[in-house]
Amino acid sequence: MVCLGNICRSPMADGLLRKKVADSGLNVRVDSAGTSAYHVGDAPDHRMIETGNQCGVPIDFLRARQFVKSDFDEFDLIYGMDNQNVTNMLSMATSEGERQKVRLILNEVNPKSNEDVPDPYYGTMDDFMHVFTLLDKATDRIMQKIGTGEKW
Ligand code: 4NP
Repeated sequence: MVCLGNICRSPMADGLLRKKVADSGLNVRVDSAGTSAYHVGDAPDHRMIETGNQCGVPIDFLRARQFVKSDFDEFDLIYGMDNQNVTNMLSMATSEGERQKVRLILNEVNPKSNEDVPDPYYGTMDDFMHVFTLLDKATDRIMQKIGTGEKW
């Protein structure tokens, strides 16, 4: 799960999918990163932590790191939260196989619509809750696809 800072959207996506994977007993490795180095080593934004806590999804243990080229080797699927994140990751890819791993997360909910998870950093608590709701839906859909072995 990848966003710009790795302190708002991608930690929430990471925490949601981690919890759903753990609850289901599946063996899937989940992680998150930011395309920027602005917040490396930081805990998630306190407003995202608060929203997660309200909804039963703890993310306070996560720490920000920057997306690195070797993530293409480590992971089968790499979800960008917005179109800019996807563009930035694609600029680091050096093979068709790497490019194929990069997806826009809300396309799992509305295929080919190319919608962004809006950046809540300069927003209100309602914006953080909206991010949670979008990512809850997207991670439900990802779990469904993992569960049925549906084609990605
Ligand atoms: P995120 O939100 O990409 O969802 O983690 C942001 C966090 C920090 C900044 C921008 C977006 N920033 O400019 O510091």
